[in-house]
Amino acid sequence: MNNFYIVANLKMNKSFEESKLYLKFLQNKVKNSKCEIILFPSNISLAYFHENIYGMQVGVQDIDYRSEGEGTGSISASQVKDICNYVLIGHSERRIIFSEDNKLLNKKLKSSWKNNLKTIFCVGEDINIRNSGAKAVEDYIVKQLVNSLENDSDWQNLIVAYEPIWAIGTGKPADASQIKDVLEIIKQTLNKLSNNINIPILYGGSINEENFQNYKNQRNIDGLLIGSSSLNPDVLSKIINNI
Ligand code: PGA
Repeated sequence: MNNFYIVANLKMNKSFEESKLYLKFLQNKVKNSKCEIILFPSNISLAYFHENIYGMQVGVQDIDYRSEGEGTGSISASQVKDICNYVLIGHSERRIIFSEDNKLLNKKLKSSWKNNLKTIFCVGEDINIRNSGAKAVEDYIVKQLVNSLENDSDWQNLIVAYEPIWAIGTGKPADASQIKDVLEIIKQTLNKLSNNINIPILYGGSINEENFQNYKNQRNIDGLLIGSSSLNPDVLSKIINNI
């Protein structure tokens, strides 16, 4: 497997037709990438992506923690396991807009692993916690990890994404000095919990064509989670082709 991840979170964007064009354009532009590329389209396009993608992986942006039955409008890991191999769990938009807490996210992680999906589990503090100082940030992030992960988690199928909320969609990416201590804390916490299994860590928050190179060689960063800049397949392909 390739060892640097480029993850595109398309969020609640693009119609089915737009998604088809997006995938076609991206596939034409991306050549011999050295990265592990994972695309997270909205649910309407999952099956199409699954059938038409090559050299890249498909993921679902969220799942219900239950497996079937009641849950109008929801989608479960057991339903998507045939068309996806990744799932995003605990994105800050799910935590904030849909009030998802660490306990619920623990159930979602378990359901994903039960269905052999690889999970990208997102953590990150908001601006108030950041402004309260390094100790407050550390306590918050460690709690997010410890309260959702357990000793018997499926560590081989886990990737953690550090996405400081103050950097998401703001055009103000975190610079190396602002995040290096948090990345180290995440690494150490995961090492402790998993008994030293090497779990990849991604950074996400206002990554774009101009700044992605800054993160490439940063310690404890194994990939990038890209939102807004991934919506333009031309921009995304340039990032991928230049990693
Ligand atoms: P952004 O989003 O790249 O637009 O900041 C990242 C994310 O929400 O995962």
